Amino acid sequence: MELKELYSSYEKYDGKEITIIARVRSHRQGKAVNFLVLNDGTTINDIQVVYKSEIEKYEEVSSARVSSIVEVSGKVVLTPGKPQPFEISASKIELLDQAIENYPLQKKEHSPEFLREIAHLRARTKTFQSIFRIRSAAAFAIHEFFNQNNFIYVHTPILTENDAEGAGETFVVTTRTDANYEEDFFGKKAALTVSGQLNAESFAQAFKKVYTFGPTFRAENSYTSRHAAEFWMIEPEVAFADLKDNIELIEKMVKHIVNYLFKNNMDELNFCAQNLEEGLIEKLKTIIENDFAITPYEEAIEILKKAVADGVDFEEKNIEFGLDLGTEHERYLCEVVNKKPTFVTNYPKEIKAFYMKQNEDGKTVAAVDLLVPGIGELVGGSQREDDYEKLITRCKEMNIDPEELWWYNDLRQYGYYKSAGFGLGFERLIMYVTGAANIRDVLPFPRTPKNLLF
Ligand code: 4AD
Ligand code: MG
Repeated sequence: MELKELYSSYEKYDGKEITIIARVRSHRQGKAVNFLVLNDGTTINDIQVVYKSEIEKYEEVSSARVSSIVEVSGKVVLTPGKPQPFEISASKIELLDQAIENYPLQKKEHSPEFLREIAHLRARTKTFQSIFRIRSAAAFAIHEFFNQNNFIYVHTPILTENDAEGAGETFVVTTRTDANYEEDFFGKKAALTVSGQLNAESFAQAFKKVYTFGPTFRAENSYTSRHAAEFWMIEPEVAFADLKDNIELIEKMVKHIVNYLFKNNMDELNFCAQNLEEGLIEKLKTIIENDFAITPYEEAIEILKKAVADGVDFEEKNIEFGLDLGTEHERYLCEVVNKKPTFVTNYPKEIKAFYMKQNEDGKTVAAVDLLVPGIGELVGGSQREDDYEKLITRCKEMNIDPEELWWYNDLRQYGYYKSAGFGLGFERLIMYVTGAANIRDVLPFPRTPKNLLF
């Protein structure tokens, strides 16, 4: 049987004979009995097996090294008063496969850096068991949320000709060595997608509410703890919706995910709270119990100016309208000022993408970022420009050839009344809900500059 099942109803198995196959996490010889601590991967909780020297093949069994695989048959014995609620008193143990002596993951503290070098093994540790179980659960919660709210899941292409954000951070895909793209596979320059948004927008005009959830790629040369070259993004798009609707959707979705984890992943969250971030549970509780804050960009600039005047030591102290907020500013706003997740709205158009709806003031766009304590930007989104002429003009101003996006721009001419959407960085969300400090530790096999292992 599986440990998960045993843990969820061990009282039912009291005194019963069970059989499990699992990996040895530790093995020690006592005076009268020996102890095997096992895990089969189905739960973060280990199981303790007790056996005596009378057992068959005692010599072989007692030689089982850490990471070996054993099959244990024995009786479930409840152990009230001990840290673990039950143990197995073994009647038979089979050493199915013996691991070598110098298994890299011996039972001791390892640094996150060392564990990244053995990413093929680190998922066996309790920390990574917790993180990747939460990652899986959060993905499920996201699909559940959209499904419950009548969204259509659309698979936007990974190979593409468009740089949705116009930021020039695409990875080129080619079968040639000479950069002669006309002769290349697609007969033109192709890239890995940076965002499925533009394609999703066209589907929103057909289905009203859609979302993408897939890998995205950015050749951003930033060596930060929050940027990866390959990351997953959730991008909903809703037709007939405006910025306010967008903000409400973001908040509802984030709360749904946290609620789901509270219902289904308490063991993992508690482990993260003990090992990655003190106060994690309380932090997550405040997310579901409170409204998020909303601070318009211009107000944020005033707050930051005042902070500098009051002596807050930002690296970038030159704060004025037009500044692209840095992580330090973002964190100050949500951690020090509002002390909770904070929407910043209506950014200057110069620092945002071409597709965002221009506000009547002529200088800002209907954009929204969600900033969260400990991370900074978790979500970026906007209401989309609905005016065909304005969109074309904005493309040109930002050096984007409108011809290349003819199909996207054309959507505005075939009956178009508002559309809004956002992108939530899945890894940043997982960092936020687990307390993991580095994006490399929430991706199974992270891809970052100068790092392509496994
Ligand atoms: O703010 P961004 O660039 O927005 C878009 O891509 C829009 N097309 C979304 C939309 O409106 N449909 O990216 C969205 C989010 C960011 O807020 C951040 O959480 C995450 O994606 N993100 C990254 N995460 C990890 N590594 C990177 N290099 C990231 N770049 C963005
Ligand atoms: Mg952004």
